[in-house]
Amino acid sequence: MNGVLLGVDLGTSGVKVLALNREGQVCAEAGASYPLLTPQPGWSEQRPADWAAAALQALKDVAGQLAARQLTPVALGLSGQMHGLVPLDAAGQVIRPAMLWNDARTGEQVAEIERLVPRDELIARIGNRAVAGFQWPKLLWLRQHEPENFAALRLALLPKDYLGYLLTGQAATEPSDASGVGLLNLQTLDWDEDLLRAAGLPRSLFPDVVPSHAVTGRLLPDIAAQTGLPTGLPVVAGGGDNAAAGIALGLSHRRPGRGSLSLGTSGVIFAPLSGPTPDPQGRVHLFAHADGGFHLLGVTLAAGGALQWFKDRVAPEIPLAQLMQEAAAVPDGSDGLSFLPYLAGERSPFMNPELRGAWSGLALAHGRGHLVRSLLEGVALSLGDVADVMKPLCGVQELLATGGGAGSALWLSLCAAATGLPVQVSDHAPGAAHGAALLAAVAAGWATDVAEVVERFAPPSTPLDHAAPDLEQARQRFRAAQHSPLIPQEASA
Ligand code: XUL
Repeated sequence: MNGVLLGVDLGTSGVKVLALNREGQVCAEAGASYPLLTPQPGWSEQRPADWAAAALQALKDVAGQLAARQLTPVALGLSGQMHGLVPLDAAGQVIRPAMLWNDARTGEQVAEIERLVPRDELIARIGNRAVAGFQWPKLLWLRQHEPENFAALRLALLPKDYLGYLLTGQAATEPSDASGVGLLNLQTLDWDEDLLRAAGLPRSLFPDVVPSHAVTGRLLPDIAAQTGLPTGLPVVAGGGDNAAAGIALGLSHRRPGRGSLSLGTSGVIFAPLSGPTPDPQGRVHLFAHADGGFHLLGVTLAAGGALQWFKDRVAPEIPLAQLMQEAAAVPDGSDGLSFLPYLAGERSPFMNPELRGAWSGLALAHGRGHLVRSLLEGVALSLGDVADVMKPLCGVQELLATGGGAGSALWLSLCAAATGLPVQVSDHAPGAAHGAALLAAVAAGWATDVAEVVERFAPPSTPLDHAAPDLEQARQRFRAAQHSPLIPQEASA
């Protein structure tokens, strides 16, 4: 009667847990954060014990809120940051800190993979080029640099799957997250035996791949005692954070016309696909979706992150709202100023961690408003590059806006102009924890399949209400800046 679904998102800055009722409304919510460790430049790690403590705390908090309102959890779905390596030994203990999606130490291992497997063959099998953040190069790094840890390794888990293992004692994964390891064959949705052989990695290192809506295990009694949740609660495999957010936003391979535009720390365009048809050059990612289909994912690494950088480092005393007003007062094209947003290297379309950002065309007449406006335009034009690669590959015709930057109608209008795709806005664009809970709906008997869940719970949206900017001249100058001899090259690739 009073059943609710729980969703967990194990993010990079913290974990979020929420409960959804049958109407899809959030009826309890909690979060907890944990540190990001950068023991050496380019390394990005977290302690799985910190994830566990934070997740159990947030689950306990939500369980308390639900008990007070006589609501009963009936199933729990998982989502989380993709690509990380959680290495476990024969006793199921964590061997070393997890290496995360944004860890950049594996340049040499990416080159090794490219020597092992021709790029076009790799893309045909796994939908992606070798990418530094993926789990496969991390395993090669471990073998080369920490042989004693590699010798102890028996199971390589992704972050959310490690949490599922702690909650249930069962190790499993599902296609949307597993396709970010770099070893999942997208035709079979199983580990690619030829690649495993080429890599010299045993199949037994990886958990079985089950459908995203499948129950992988049941809540262990000691976890139930620690959190106040029911023993035996079904735990559902769930999805990587992008796929889970896609489910929450109502994005399905059965409706390929609608994708999403997320303006968070990074800018992400997500577009569903019915088949595993990658970009032959691997300029955008192709991953399995959590609804049985697939999706393209293009990432501009520094979007909100570039704006935050400007505010923190250049204008710390100025409120963000004022900076955005100053930007809004500058004409389209920023009076000739262009910004390349590659502050953290770039994923799509370049897949080059060495790229760096730049302003070009700077003149005495430019002020702070120009710097901010050109930054917003540069991020939008970079997302335009992503959309240019994606559009011929999929049927995307409109983008549903989400993420912190979606609060700026100006920025969204720039993105709409740069991508050539109309943008829809929603009052409360739901996130990955919401999608994780929805992925548990089938196990709870609330729906017969994920397609029904996506249809039923898609958030209402309306077209963006903002004048369309003219970015044509800005786009030409952006192109010229990308080809400038002053910019570390390959931005012209
Ligand atoms: C996707 C990716 C990120 C992480 C962050 O390829 O690397 O979106 O999933 O959570």
